[in-house]
Amino acid sequence: MPALPTRIEQSTERDLTPLEVFEVTSARETALSRLLMLYIGTGLIFMLLPGTFLGVWNLLAISSHRAADSVSPAWIQAHGHAQIFGWIGTFILGIGFFSIPKLRRMEPLALSVVWAAWGLWTVGVSLRWLSGVCPWQWRALLPVSAVLELAAFLIFFRSVSGHRGQSLEKDGASAGNERVTEEKAKLDEWVLVVIAASVGLLLTLLVNLGASVFLSVQGASPDLPANFDQRFLVLETWGFLVVFVWGFSAKWLPIFLGLRSLRGKTLLCAVALNSAGVLAAFTGWMTAAVVLLLAGIITAIYSLRLFEPPARPAKVKGVHASFPIFVRVAYIWAVVAAALGIWAAAVPNSHGIWGASRHALTVGFLATMVFAIGQRVLPAFSGMRLLFSTKLMFIALLLLTIGCLLRVSSEILAYQGFARSAWSWLPVSAVIEMTAVTLFAINLFATFARRPPSRSRPRSTMTSRR
Ligand code: HEM
Repeated sequence: MPALPTRIEQSTERDLTPLEVFEVTSARETALSRLLMLYIGTGLIFMLLPGTFLGVWNLLAISSHRAADSVSPAWIQAHGHAQIFGWIGTFILGIGFFSIPKLRRMEPLALSVVWAAWGLWTVGVSLRWLSGVCPWQWRALLPVSAVLELAAFLIFFRSVSGHRGQSLEKDGASAGNERVTEEKAKLDEWVLVVIAASVGLLLTLLVNLGASVFLSVQGASPDLPANFDQRFLVLETWGFLVVFVWGFSAKWLPIFLGLRSLRGKTLLCAVALNSAGVLAAFTGWMTAAVVLLLAGIITAIYSLRLFEPPARPAKVKGVHASFPIFVRVAYIWAVVAAALGIWAAAVPNSHGIWGASRHALTVGFLATMVFAIGQRVLPAFSGMRLLFSTKLMFIALLLLTIGCLLRVSSEILAYQGFARSAWSWLPVSAVIEMTAVTLFAINLFATFARRPPSRSRPRSTMTSRR
């Protein structure tokens, strides 16, 4: 892709006509939208094959043997890594590259940087998955994959935290400093939350690198020991993904759901409680950890005012009208996840309850939020397209909710030995969830395949052409 940046760089050396400015800007936007679609498409492939397919395979094996430990931990961890880093992580990087420079009014990023981060991240996550499912050369591949993932993130972080562009200063000069200060204040809380989430991701990747090097030198197999894995899971879910979702919720939900203004400081308290919970889990203090995580999510919901009467009607144009309900359902799942964590920490041999808590968080909260918000924002980000089908969106969200309900309940009943018949519901839940993620992927791929509406030229350029 060298042609486009070169043209843009050359074009800044002389004054451009309005038509040239329009053409350069719109070519850049198109290139960036294509790159976003590449990131999202890559995330969807990770979600479908290395993620969901392997997850379903694992669950079918577990339910047929009626034993949670009948599947190799390396396969389970490969599935988890593909979902968390391959699917949601790739989505976050793509959306971040696309939206943060615009929101911060930065100079346009060099597209080569976005490509480089995509290449390093995709190869890193793929190698990690391969070293789990097929332990060929895993001692070398594991640390290499961790280094590649960290390098991709550092490129991303350096790019989106760079200096703001000239446009802000120009705006400030013309419209008065108050406007700049006001916008900065408006951005502050959600930006701080996204920064906290980025720190969580950085810590996750550093711990992942340390653990990979340790395993490669000392380990007997590529999987993390169960005790460490459980703590690491808290870091990669509550410590990074959940906080990103809060940040994007604070930015978008007041607009999309017509909510009353965010209680910004309260949201920052929620992040502090959540971080304390993650730290407590990492030091092995599980009971305190889950209580803090529950307090954090309840505080976050209060700060977002999700369950208060809205100030304005929700904006559901282009998505299914049930969108606001599913966003609220997702947050209820996060509370359920934390509450199940408290139960699991209080009783011995609670493998099934921990599994149900993890599933309520990853599928109930995270996947539902990605399904709901993703289908709301991604069509517009990918060149002002329209979502292919709002009905498919609804069916996918409904199936995901039903599948998750069945899975969370049957995992507790079967794994904890409360009801033997629940072993046979597990495969049903897996197939329902797999159908949901497949429909979600079809809807997004079909949206990207649609022709975007053509951009209309600005009035001044049309006049200058005549
Ligand atoms: C069709 C949907 C899915 C199925 C059938 C599935 C299946 C499984 C199974 C069988 C396990 C092993 C632990 C247990 O028995 O509970 C597991 C663990 C896990 N899953 Fe899933 N899963 C699905 C979706 C997801 C999604 C959407 C995410 C993340 C967004 C996810 C993240 C994880 C993680 C992080 C683990 C723990 C890995 C570890 O122990 O290191 N799963 N999943």
